[in-house]
Amino acid sequence: MERMAEKTIYQIYLRSFYDSNGDGFGDIPGITAKLDYFEKLGVDMLWLNPFYPSPQHDNGYDISDYTGVDPRFGTMTDFEELVHEAKKRSIGIMIDLVLNHTSTDHIWFQKALAGDSKYRDFYYFKKGRGKNCLPPTNWTSKFGGPAWERLPNSDEYYMHLYDVTQADLNWENPEVREALYQVVRFWIDKGVEGFRLDVLNVISKPDTLQDDFIGDGRRFYTDGPHIHEYLKELNTKTFGPEHLLTVGEMSSTSIASSIRYSNPAEKELSMVFHFHHLKVDYKDGEKWRLDQVRFGELKELFHTWQVEMTRGNGWDALFWNNHDQPRALGRFTSDKEEYHYAAATLLASTIHLMRGTPYLYMGEEIGMINPRFSTIESYSDIETINHYKLLQQEGLSEQETMAIIMERSRDNSRIPMQWTSGKNAGFTTGTPLYPVSDSKAWINVEAALKDKSSIFYFYQRLIELRKKHRVIQTGNYTPFLLEEDRIISYLREDETDSLLAVHYYGEEEHEITLPEVFLNGKILISNVGRDQIGKRITLKPYETLAILLTK
Ligand code: GLC
Repeated sequence: MERMAEKTIYQIYLRSFYDSNGDGFGDIPGITAKLDYFEKLGVDMLWLNPFYPSPQHDNGYDISDYTGVDPRFGTMTDFEELVHEAKKRSIGIMIDLVLNHTSTDHIWFQKALAGDSKYRDFYYFKKGRGKNCLPPTNWTSKFGGPAWERLPNSDEYYMHLYDVTQADLNWENPEVREALYQVVRFWIDKGVEGFRLDVLNVISKPDTLQDDFIGDGRRFYTDGPHIHEYLKELNTKTFGPEHLLTVGEMSSTSIASSIRYSNPAEKELSMVFHFHHLKVDYKDGEKWRLDQVRFGELKELFHTWQVEMTRGNGWDALFWNNHDQPRALGRFTSDKEEYHYAAATLLASTIHLMRGTPYLYMGEEIGMINPRFSTIESYSDIETINHYKLLQQEGLSEQETMAIIMERSRDNSRIPMQWTSGKNAGFTTGTPLYPVSDSKAWINVEAALKDKSSIFYFYQRLIELRKKHRVIQTGNYTPFLLEEDRIISYLREDETDSLLAVHYYGEEEHEITLPEVFLNGKILISNVGRDQIGKRITLKPYETLAILLTK
């Protein structure tokens, strides 16, 4: 399994990244046009969210043709050109495949509906229960409502763990698996060097389907009964022999399972995305209930995963942001202008100095923030719209509902990339798909590139440091300064180097004591211009500091 511990990956939500032809939709040629920008930043691979033909009910995660390019995003020639041009700059392309479900517009599902028995076995069609033809189980969809949809004029249902237009594939059927492996091989032949595999740990459903009386059903299919068997097969038959980089999106997974997914000896995947650290502001585990960030829990999660994954030789994808998350900046720190630089760089170095592969999500490198659109008309994400209705049904007022939507909607990170302070933030010459945030006035690429002390250049430095220092890539991880409430600190160590990282999540100055031995070290990175260390130092608001000691 290829870990490529020196690499950093950049995620592009292409519909809102850069529009090359003025139709308001970001596109593939728009990415090719910005390759010099990525080269400057220093990233090694670009992860593209789905660009395949799709009715776009879930922004492309509802694929209707796995081996095509949706005309909205360009053509296959555009894609080939991107791969080729990126390669010239030593940048690989990672694509996002959704192997758990297809769009209900997919020809397989359409044939199944028309009664073709081969394709009926591609999905989970089950008879309803009892006189009233109730759904086969009481599970709920991750986007709200039941996980089963009844077919018109029939006593049958099909399973959809996500939207009703996303039908779950039956991985028990070897024909389904082979059809999907062919898809993966198709893209390998196109020169793709990495795969991000959507909601991969829910593909193995239990042999017997039963009601869940204590949850939404996820405990039956998360890291399901045959998951490791399927991943080993997928690996051997597709990307394994090619040594490609793979990352599985693993919702609600455990450390033990993640070690199995990502330990090279298991021959499954290179690494995993898990989300526990992004649930520390959920109330009682509920995304659509607001709570303060429980910082102690956040810290504990980082430390435990880092220590345990190292011990089991697993490998983490390190990230704060993606297209499903509101921006971390206003969530784990302040996103006010006065703290903007410090807070954004603090978040960056907290994870970039950990063991694993860092991912940055478009706009993170300039410190993009949530737009805080206050009316529902500004939102289009299917999950947001469903929950807007559900929250109102629960009796919340418009104001209460919108307070939650503003914090939690996935559209927070899906608004156009801010290239300039000008019209439509320089994203399109047409009418943008999403509203543009006013913050473009002070947060934009043009300004960031001009200012040598901007967030952009801090990321550039972190990316460079990882390439240069093996201790950042693969060193051991030991939690440090555990008694400090607002500090995430750790030691990274290998045979030649020790690195001490201190990340301070507070707004008041705060004094700490450094271990004596590090006084002989050199400051590797600081976001407050610190150039000297003493035994006692006073941390500034949102300060981050890393000291390297060569043994
Ligand atoms: C993943 C994607 C998300 C999508 C869902 C269903 O979580 O990241 O955007 O809605 O899977 O495919």
